[in-house]
Amino acid sequence: MDEKAVAPVPPGPASVVFGDALPLAVEFAERLAAAGVERGLIGPREVERLWDRHLLNSAVVAERIDSGARVVDVGSGAGLPGIPLALARPDLDLTLLEPMARRVAWLEEVVGALGLTVRVVRGRAEEPGIKQRRAGADVVIARAVAPLDRLWGWSAPLLRQGGRLLALKGESAEAEATRDSAAVSRAGGGTPRVGRCGVGVLEVPTTIIEVERVGVRPRTGVRGRRQRVSRQDQGH
Ligand SMILES: C[S@@+](CC[C@H](N)C(=O)[O-])C[C@H]1O[C@@H](n2cnc3c(N)ncnc32)[C@H](O)[C@@H]1O
Repeated sequence: MDEKAVAPVPPGPASVVFGDALPLAVEFAERLAAAGVERGLIGPREVERLWDRHLLNSAVVAERIDSGARVVDVGSGAGLPGIPLALARPDLDLTLLEPMARRVAWLEEVVGALGLTVRVVRGRAEEPGIKQRRAGADVVIARAVAPLDRLWGWSAPLLRQGGRLLALKGESAEAEATRDSAAVSRAGGGTPRVGRCGVGVLEVPTTIIEVERVGVRPRTGVRGRRQRVSRQDQGH
């Protein structure tokens, strides 16, 4: 293996997406290509597609997030999508959530080296302590963490009413959104919508599934049962 793997030169859209933070994005790419590969955070074959498939693909999700929003990256791993998003959008209040100690150590190092004001938290999204401390987020972002129904179950308690999950997905997004729509709705989510980020900027825009937290149906008790019966009676 080439231990001195060098990240490819940033493609044209990188300066549009990262603006003044481009030198820091280059440093992140270089760290991923060298230490990131050595420490098993990304596979060696990812080096040649670091920009398109990882950094840019992650950062363009910024277009769906309001200024100053409170954002949690669930299952951040090597820092994706959270670190590119933090570079592109320093106004965000961003938390990188990751359970594995080795990856948390990496995230803390990278955040320190790049001088980012980003919180790194060790834990699982579904842990009571995490739900307590991180609840009220405007946006949860996640890539390659879990199927939509499970991911929504972890995300909903972290979101405020009206907050949104932005799940970065691949080609199966439409099928996954349809498949998990009922489960998401039972757990307080709106209809999952598939969208594209980075259209007109990236050669291959990022596909996302977006779900809004709209409320949780009562699951137990007389009131909940009566409501369910009356819905069925009405043919809903
Ligand atoms: C396949 S990796 C993806 C990492 C990164 N998001 C990316 O796209 O490169 C999945 C990550 O989710 C983390 N993870 C798994 N279950 C989790 C949970 N319940 N809460 C938070 N993170 C979780 C894993 O430790 C791992 O770092």
